[in-house]
Parts: sequence; structure tokens; C-alpha cells
Amino acid sequence: MALLLWLGSQLSSIWSNISILGVFLTVFALLLDFMKRRKKWSRYPPGPASLPFLGTMFSVDFHNPHRSFSQLQKKFGNIFSLQNCWTNLVVLNGYKTVKEALVHKSEDFADRPPFPIYEHIGYGENSEGIVVARYGHVWKELRRFALSTLRNFGMGKKSLEEHVVEEAGFLCSEIMSEEGKSFDIQVLLKNAVCNMICHIVFGDRFDYGDETFKKLLQLFQNSLDEETGFLPQLLNVVPILVRIPGVPQKAFQAQKELMDFIDVAIEKHRKTWDPAYTRDITDVFLKEMEKGKAAEENGFHYNNLRLVTLDLFTAGSETTSTTIHWALLYMLLHPEIQSKVQEEIDRVIGRERPPAMTDQASMPYTNAVIHEVQRCGDVVPLGIPHRTYRDTELQGFFIPKGTTVIINLSSVLKDETVWEKPNEFYPEHFLDAKGQFVKPEAFLPFSAGRRACLGEQLARMELFLVFTTLLQKFTFVVPEDQPRPRVDSHFALTNSPHPYLLRALPR
Ligand code: HEM
Ligand SMILES: *[C@@H]1O[C@H](CO)[C@@H](O)[C@H](O)[C@H]1NC(C)=O
Repeated sequence: MALLLWLGSQLSSIWSNISILGVFLTVFALLLDFMKRRKKWSRYPPGPASLPFLGTMFSVDFHNPHRSFSQLQKKFGNIFSLQNCWTNLVVLNGYKTVKEALVHKSEDFADRPPFPIYEHIGYGENSEGIVVARYGHVWKELRRFALSTLRNFGMGKKSLEEHVVEEAGFLCSEIMSEEGKSFDIQVLLKNAVCNMICHIVFGDRFDYGDETFKKLLQLFQNSLDEETGFLPQLLNVVPILVRIPGVPQKAFQAQKELMDFIDVAIEKHRKTWDPAYTRDITDVFLKEMEKGKAAEENGFHYNNLRLVTLDLFTAGSETTSTTIHWALLYMLLHPEIQSKVQEEIDRVIGRERPPAMTDQASMPYTNAVIHEVQRCGDVVPLGIPHRTYRDTELQGFFIPKGTTVIINLSSVLKDETVWEKPNEFYPEHFLDAKGQFVKPEAFLPFSAGRRACLGEQLARMELFLVFTTLLQKFTFVVPEDQPRPRVDSHFALTNSPHPYLLRALPR
């Protein structure tokens, strides 16, 4: 009995010690959390109240984020703050705000937040590729390299333009083989655009039926789906979970497989490398790597080669093919605009000769339509997250160094103070009274400033050449048994059209 009593008293003392410890730890955690969430700055942008540990996560309805964000903007204005756990986030809305940040204070906003979810495929110190690289020396070198290589793409026998035209021709043959029946054109567009990047990166295109090519496209799709799934979203919001062994591998299986695919392709490419003959951007990179230690310090090493390759595919494929997918959807919905474009094509290019970039200057209407597709389609609505590189100010607000900044490109492309009919498809936004092409400054689908899309020129070329080739050869119509396609978009990193069927009638 005495023993039992004794045991009982011991246990209760252990228990009370544990409770004391528990209370202590809780207070400590709350205090730490309070310190982390506290805003020491008086002019920090306003935002919803933040909860311990969770921040403002519950101020955003995950089923309908757009509505929540609109409400927040109405309540707090064009610059408002959020908090994901302990990460400070500021959202910028409207042309005026975005221009001031990206153009006038370009360097202040040029950094990127860390993306711990990519570490498992090789991102690390000085190996960050371009898209998610921190602002600094290595990013600058790689960006300059990519820009100048794309610009001087006279390598091989043909120019980049000739390749784009050639690919547009293959695309037309595939469409022709549908014989005017109704079909979903999305996969073909992905094939064509992906092939253009394959050509730049690996010096060659694939036949659309090629098994390796199908596998590559499947891996792209899977890794994109993966990134927009629930687990990765959670990992982005609560990055500490990425540190749990096995979690990233499980969440990003397809991404890993895609990287393996690229590794195999580069390895094969290296074996056939001939320094005297440059086939593609990979060869130019390998040549740079040969320059030794200094080049390596500038970021020209193997790991960056694979990451830059992945960057060009991920940044350059989905965006461009989705834009063309939107273009055809708008043509289905606005047949009168489609015929005006075709009239211009017939007048300037005719029915036989393939389009060339030099035609663009004489085709203001077509050019306006393509710009309006980009404005309305609004393919990358929230851009890629930025981060402040130093303490800065924006319209009287103070934004400290290291704050994640979301640039709402959608709010610029649909800014009511700039566009006459922000929510309608209206090519006249890009035409003056005389029918000449004009480009309002708020046309920012490629963003602006130091981090602006580096593939803009290539994308412009692809959009113009593919779109004019398609409308030169076909008239696109809604099949009789199909409903009118929806104009609202499906958001998953990019804004894409809901699936739709069309018929391509040869002209
Ligand atoms: C219609 C097609 C495209 C659209 C709408 C688009 C849009 C964008 C946007 C909004 C950004 C983020 C800019 C920022 O952070 O402020 C971006 C970045 C980037 N894009 Fe594009 N893009 C397109 C095509 C391409 C193509 C074809 C390539 C390359 C072959 C490409 C390569 C890149 C790269 C490498 C970056 C990262 C730049 C950096 O962080 O320094 N993009 N793009
Ligand atoms: C971005 O802008 C659009 C259009 O103004 C708006 O509907 C949306 O809620 C905004 N998103 C964010 C994150 O502020």
C-alpha cells in the first residue's frame, strides 16, 4: 500500500513536471511565434489579422481564392499584406503600383523567395538555374547567356524563325489529317511548342507519334499536375514539412522522373559533342563549361546545365501552347474577327507562301488580335513570386528586405483605369483611330523589369507565326453538336481554357 502511495506521488510529481514543462514550452512557442509575426514597421502594408502559427491562411478561401483576394483588395487597397505561417507576403495590384515596383524600383524587387520544394531535384547553392534563382551574380550570368544564345540562334543550318515556320507546317499536316472532324487540338499544340524547345535545347525535333516524345510530354503533364496538387501546395505554405525524409520524393515523383529524362538526354548529347560544330544551346553551354574554374564560378557547371534546360521547358512550353489554345477559342467565339484576320493574311501573305516575321509590321489587325488574346487569356495571372532584395518603399508603404512579393499581372491586364473594355475580347485596345497597331504600356503578360520573361522574343515569334499559319490554312468553327465554349478559365499556376472541341475546315 505504502509502495503504491509512494508510486502515485512520484507519478503525480512527474506529471506535474511534465505539465510545467508543457506550459513553459507553449508559452515559449507562442512568444517565438509572436516575435516572428510581429511587424516592427509602422508603415507596413495593411492586411487581415494573423493567427498564431497559421498566419492569414484562413482569410483566403481555397475553393474560391479569386473572390477572397478581390475582397481583400477592396478592403485594404492595391498593396496589402498576408502571412503564410512566418513568411511575410505582400500583394501588388494595378498598373500604377506594379510599374513602380518592377520598372522604377526594379532591383529592389528582383529577388526570388527560396523554393525548398525543388531541392530534391538538385537546386542548391549556386545551382538554381534561372527561373527561381536568387538575384545575384550567377543568375545574371546565366540569364545573359540564355538571352544572347537565343538571340544569336543562327547555329546549325537554319535560323530559329525557319524552325518555327517548319514546325507550324508539321502542325498543319496533323490538323489536316483530322479531315474536318471535331477534335481537341490541345495535345497537338503542346507537341508543336514542346518541339520548338526541344530543337533549341537538344538540336532536334520529334515526330508527334514518337514514343520517347510521348513519354516526355506525359512527364511534363504529370509534373505540372503534381505541382498544383494538394500536397505540394501545402509544402509551399508550410515549407518545414519538406525536411521530413521521403516527403519530397513522394510528392514530386514525376518531377524527379522528368529530371532523370533530361539527364539521360544531356548525357547522350555530351557523348556526341563536337566543339567545332554548335548544334544548340546545350552545346553552347558545354563550350562555356570548358573554360574552367572562372566559368564554373559564374555558374557554368553541369548541375546548372540540367536546371537551365528544365527551366526552358517549363517556362517556355505550357505558357505558349496555352496562349495559342486561347487564340483558337477566341476565334471560335468571334468568327467575324477570325475572317478579318484571314482577310489581312490573304492580302499581305497570300495563301501559299509561309508567313515570316517581316510580315508582322504590315499586319496591324492580326498583331492586335494576338496581343488581345494575351491580355484576355491572362495566362500567368500571378507571375512568378518576387522577393525584396533590400528594404524599400512603395507608394508610402514600407516593405522590408526578404518579403515575398506577389505581382498580380491579371490586375494590370484587366485594369479598369487603363483598358476601355477590360473584360471583353476587343482587339481595338491595340489599334489607334487609323487602324495602326499601338501597344499600351499596361500590356505586361511577360511582366517587366529585371526579371521579365527572357523568352518574350521567342514567344512573340511562335505566337505570330503559328497563329497566322493556322488561319492561313484553316477556318476554325464550333462543331454543330457542341455547346459554345466557355470563356472563363481554369486556374492551376496558369490560366487555361476549359477543354473544348473544334473543327478545322481547310481553306
Ligand atoms: C506566351 C508565352 C510566355 C509568357 C506569357 C511568359 C510569361 C512569363 C512571366 C510572367 C514570367 C515571370 C516574370 C517575373 O518574375 O516577373 C516569365 C519568366 C520567365 N520566362 Fe516566360 N513566358 C512565356 C514564354 C517563355 C518562353 C518561350 C521562354 C523560353 C524559352 C520563357 C522563359 C522564361 C524564363 C527563363 C523566365 C525567368 C526569368 C528570370 O527569372 O530571370 N518564357 N515568363
Ligand atoms: C488579381 O487581380 C484580379 C483582377 O483585378 C483580381 O480578381 C484578383 O482577386 C487579384 N488577385 C490577388 C491575389 O490579389
